This record gives sequence, structure tokens and C-alpha cells, in this order.
Amino acid sequence: MYDNIVLIGFMGSGKTSVGKILARQLHKKFVDVDTVIEKEQNSSVSDIFENKGEEYFRSLEQKCINELTQKTGQIIATGGGLPIYSSIPEKSLIVYIDADFDVILKRLSRKEHAKRPLLQDESRARTLYKQRIDTYKEQANFSVDANQTIQTFIHVIVDFILDQRIL
Ligand code: S3P
Repeated sequence: MYDNIVLIGFMGSGKTSVGKILARQLHKKFVDVDTVIEKEQNSSVSDIFENKGEEYFRSLEQKCINELTQKTGQIIATGGGLPIYSSIPEKSLIVYIDADFDVILKRLSRKEHAKRPLLQDESRARTLYKQRIDTYKEQANFSVDANQTIQTFIHVIVDFILDQRIL
């Protein structure tokens, strides 16, 4: 029915951590779009933004999700802007990791915060969050309330996937 599970949500909502746990529990391969891009470009996301610009980064995201979804049976974590600027190929089950902005800010370590160029100005980031949430909700096949710890909501996603015999 679906080829892959694609996790979407705002920066720092926990997509990568959730994806790793899901992959382990479901015996699937985990891939993270930002990590794939960083490896291919041999450069961090921050450096790509700084040296080549956001538009270039967005084109890399689209190319990356297209290429990754040529394969099946994977859990794919995306960057927070991917569903805004790119189209996620059909036959992907899209799961929205839905955390409040203030919860995200509290949860992020200083190091994780520093990695994200679009999070550096708090009021701009809050505006971005407000602009994006509707798109995340529209794109998602399934949303999970991610304001608790991952341990408390991971089973909601696992049960949904297993019940639906999705992968
Ligand atoms: C971005 C989110 C980041 C990364 C880049 C841009 C965004 O990924 O792709 O900094 O536009 O929301 P995370 O969602 O993993 O932080």
C-alpha cells in the first residue's frame, strides 16, 4: 500500500530520534534526508545555507527525497522545510510529528539549536512555525501529538503502522 514512511514536522520536533526508534522496532532501514545531503555535499546544512543559499538547499532536498523513495521499506526523516518546498512522492505514508513551538525550544540542546540556521532568530522561527503547521497537517496521513517524551508516544505510531499493515 505504501512504499516508505516519511516523517515530517518542524525543526527539532524529534523526527530523527523517532525515526531511529521506529526503524529499530519495525526492523526497517532508517534514512535522514539532511544527513544524506550533508554526506553527498561533504558540507553541513549550515554551511550549505551560508555558501550556496537556501534555494540551492531546497533543490537538494527535492532531489534527495525523489532518489530515496526509489527504494522501499524505509523510515525517512525529513528536514522541517521539505514538505513546504518539495513534493513528497506518492506511496509514502506521511507521519506528522506534532510538537508545540515552546516545547521544541525547551527540548533542544544548545548544540542542536546551533545547527539550525532558521532557528537562530526566535521570533522569526515562531512565525515560520505558524506559517507551516497547516501545510504539515494537510500533507500528513497521520499526526501524532509529540509534546510528551518520545517513549510515551512512539507506540502510537508503531501500533498504527502495524494495525494498518503499512510496510
Ligand atoms: C530546516 C530544517 C532543518 C534543515 C534546515 C532547514 C527548515 O532540519 O533541513 O536547517 O527549513 O525547517 P530539521 O527539521 O531536522 O531541523
